[in-house]
Amino acid sequence: MTFLEKRSIKKMKKKMKKYLITGGSGFIGSAIVKKLVWNGHNVRVLDNNLRGASERLKEVAGKIELVQADIRDAAAVQKACKGVDSVIHLAYLQGTQFFYTKPELVLDIGVKGMINVIGGCIKENVKEIAVASSSEVYNMPPKIPTDETAPLMIPDPLNPRYSYSAGKIISEIMTINYGRKNFDRALVFRPHNVYGPDMGWEHVIPQLVLKIRKIAAATAENKIKVPIQGTGKETRAFIFIEDFVDGLMLVLEKGEHLGIYHIGTMEEMPIAAVAKEIGNYFGRQVEIVPGEAAKGSPARRCPDTTKLKKLGFKPKTPFREGLRITAKWYGQNSEKQPKISQNRGKLYEK
Ligand SMILES: NC(=O)c1ccc[n+]([C@@H]2O[C@H](COP(=O)([O-])OP(=O)(O)OC[C@H]3O[C@@H](n4cnc5c(N)ncnc54)[C@H](O)[C@@H]3O)[C@@H](O)[C@H]2O)c1
Repeated sequence: MTFLEKRSIKKMKKKMKKYLITGGSGFIGSAIVKKLVWNGHNVRVLDNNLRGASERLKEVAGKIELVQADIRDAAAVQKACKGVDSVIHLAYLQGTQFFYTKPELVLDIGVKGMINVIGGCIKENVKEIAVASSSEVYNMPPKIPTDETAPLMIPDPLNPRYSYSAGKIISEIMTINYGRKNFDRALVFRPHNVYGPDMGWEHVIPQLVLKIRKIAAATAENKIKVPIQGTGKETRAFIFIEDFVDGLMLVLEKGEHLGIYHIGTMEEMPIAAVAKEIGNYFGRQVEIVPGEAAKGSPARRCPDTTKLKKLGFKPKTPFREGLRITAKWYGQNSEKQPKISQNRGKLYEK
C-alpha cells in the first residue's frame, strides 16, 4: 500500500462516524440510514416500529444494528447511545390524523423521547446531536417564504392538532439549551413536506394518489371530480426524499453549532395543482370539489431555504418526476395499507 493510499484510508476512517438514528425504520429515517451506510458510516437504529418497518432497511440489513425499543424507555435509549459519535433524533408520532386523534400520545412520545435522548447523550458522552423539528412549528407564519428566524407559536392550546408542533417546539428549545453546554455540535433541522415512495398513508400526496386512482378506475370519463379538504388554494412546497437526504447530509457536514436549518424547496404549490398533476399521471383531467379544511391547517406554507443553499444545497428532482415515482409506488403497493395498519396494532384502531 502506497503512502497516499494509507493517508486516504486514515482520512476516511477519521471521517467515519458511528450514528444512532432514532425512528430509523420510518420514511425519512430509513433513507438517512441507507445514505449513511453507503457513505461508509456505522449505524445503529432505534425504533419500536410503531409506524416504521424493518423491511424499509432490507438493502442494508446485516450492515446495521437494529434496536427494537420505545423512545420513552430511558434505559434502552441510554444503552443505544453507548459508543456513538452522533445521534439523529427522528422518533416521533407523525401523520396528521394522529395529531387530532391521539394528541396525548404525540406529546408522550415527543417530550419523553426528547428528554431521554438528551439524557442518554449526556450520560454516554455523545457530543453531537441533530434533531428533527418541523415546518409545523410556525403554524401561522407571518411571512411567506418563511425563514428560520420567524417566531414559533401555538395559536390555540385547545386544538389537539397543535400537540405535534408543541412537542417539536419543546424539542427545539431543549436541543438548543442543553446543547449549549453539553454538546460540541447541536443541530435542529425543520423538514418541509417531504414526499416519496412509502411515505406513509396519512399525508396529502398518498391520499390524493389513492383517491384519484380509485375515482379514475370507476369511470371511463376523461374529466373526473375529486373532493378535497379545503379550497385547493392552500399551498405547500414539497421536497423529494432523495433531495431531503442530500440537504440533511450538508447540514450534518457543515451546519454550525446551535444552528437551525430548513430542509425543503421554495416551489410553493396550490393543492389543486398537486391534484391536477396527479390526475395527469393517471391520464385524467381533475375538477376539484372543495371541502372542509382541517381545523388549524395553515393556508400557505413555503420555507425560505437561503441558509441551506449557502451550504451548497441544490434540489435535483422536479416535482413532476418525484410525483411520478411516488404515484407509481402507491399504485403498485396500495394493498399494503390494511396490512401495515394491522401490523402496527392499536395506533390505527378507531
Ligand atoms: N415527513 C415529513 O414531511 C416531515 C415533516 C416535518 C417533520 N418531520 C419529522 O421527521 C421525522 C421523521 O418523519 P417521517 O416522515 O419519517 O415519519 P415516520 O412516522 O415514517 O417515522 C417516525 C419513526 O418514529 C418511530 N417511532 C414513533 N414512536 C416511537 C416510539 N415511541 N419509540 C420508538 N420509535 C418510535 C416510528 O415507528 C417511525 O419509524 C419525525 O420526527 C417527523 O416529525 C417529517
